[in-house]
Amino acid sequence: MKVLLLGSGGREHALAWKIAQSPVLSKLFIAPGNAGTGITGTNVAIDPLKFNEVRDFILQEEIDMLVIGPEEPLVKGLRDFLESNNRLKRLNIIGPGKAGAQLEGSKDFAKQFMMKYSIPTASYLTVTKENISEGFKFLEKMEAPYVLKADGLAAGKGVLITHSLEEAKQIVVEMLEGKFKEAGKKVIIEQFLNGIELSVFILTDGKNWVLLPEAKDYKRIGEGDTGLNTGGMGAISPVPFADALFLDKVRKRIITPTIRGLIQENIDYRGFIFFGLMNVSGNPYVIEYNARMGDPEAEAIVPRIKSDIIDLFTGVGERNLNKVHAEFDDSYSASVMLASGGYPGNFEKGKEISGINKVTESLVFHAGTKMDGNRLVTAGGRVMAITSLAKTMKDALSMSYRCAGLVDFENKYFRKDIGFDLC
Ligand code: AMP
Ligand code: GLY
Repeated sequence: MKVLLLGSGGREHALAWKIAQSPVLSKLFIAPGNAGTGITGTNVAIDPLKFNEVRDFILQEEIDMLVIGPEEPLVKGLRDFLESNNRLKRLNIIGPGKAGAQLEGSKDFAKQFMMKYSIPTASYLTVTKENISEGFKFLEKMEAPYVLKADGLAAGKGVLITHSLEEAKQIVVEMLEGKFKEAGKKVIIEQFLNGIELSVFILTDGKNWVLLPEAKDYKRIGEGDTGLNTGGMGAISPVPFADALFLDKVRKRIITPTIRGLIQENIDYRGFIFFGLMNVSGNPYVIEYNARMGDPEAEAIVPRIKSDIIDLFTGVGERNLNKVHAEFDDSYSASVMLASGGYPGNFEKGKEISGINKVTESLVFHAGTKMDGNRLVTAGGRVMAITSLAKTMKDALSMSYRCAGLVDFENKYFRKDIGFDLC
């Protein structure tokens, strides 16, 4: 089996690490990858958004399976583009087509879908330039805080929450006037949900699905969940409050109707679905859908997958995921992200990284790293995730923190409170 994995973050290194363990793998390529994936497999310098180059490489290398890590190629229709090619009929693609990826690519689409299929979510109104005054009236009837979302992909920056009604109105106008370019042509005004967030994942062949371990992501840069939003500063799995009863509600109220809705809409969804949920007094609500695995959630949960991930992906391609045995490790997993000082604002790149070879008890998943000659250097805001598995969350966290201290680069920053709210 020859596999091509697209992406370059910690999520992709975690997936590459897992794919590389499969006995049926003959060759793993990662495009464009990072210094970590370059050890796990072979990096190729192709931009996942250059669809022609991706197609040519797949044909040239006779790739059997394509795993699409990030959202942009999914939302822009890479799957549809490849499926329209007669020579690629046998390629197994993990990741939905353009229609399915709308769940992430258009918050308006996702909201309409949830309403249609009675999936619990915050009440909302979609506003365009044509109905701004209706939007203002909707805001006036709501209570603070106000949640405002750009409809399209905005690199994680498209959600703004404010306590001021005046500011909320101003944000709606700014978004509609192009603050987020095309992504803000529609703005979703949403009821604020009070609760604790968690991330739930499934892998689906369009009909059957496997529930993967859930995770909690720590999104803010500062300790105690303060400061700016980031891609994610760490993750833990399992999530203690996601007990059997809660997960049963997630299955019945959210996952099952989502799959049923996709089937009814004639959307042939094959890949991951990431449910960003809010636990409101023991009841799950969908905050967002994503059409991919989370990052850094993948770094925490992929090591808990015991089954061969290629078997699971083959089940997706052959639409018999119900016949594949999915097994998970019941250890606790804690992943701490090491970042470049300054992130998510300005930060410097090219800092030499040392000490990784001293990490023996934890897994190191590279994110923003690259090789500069034979030096390993930083190449992004989030540099690497340190993941540990242990019998208790406390032990997993102390292992990750011990190892986080062993790796060094100038201006290294990490949150020291990942998981402590839940142990
Ligand atoms: P999203 O990009 O949709 O994940 O939103 C970013 C963050 O905004 C989420 O992780 C939540 O913390 C917060 N958020 C989004 N929607 C709501 C909501 N309706 N109520 C409360 N918080 C929200
Ligand atoms: N960690 C959140 C995300 O991947 O969107």
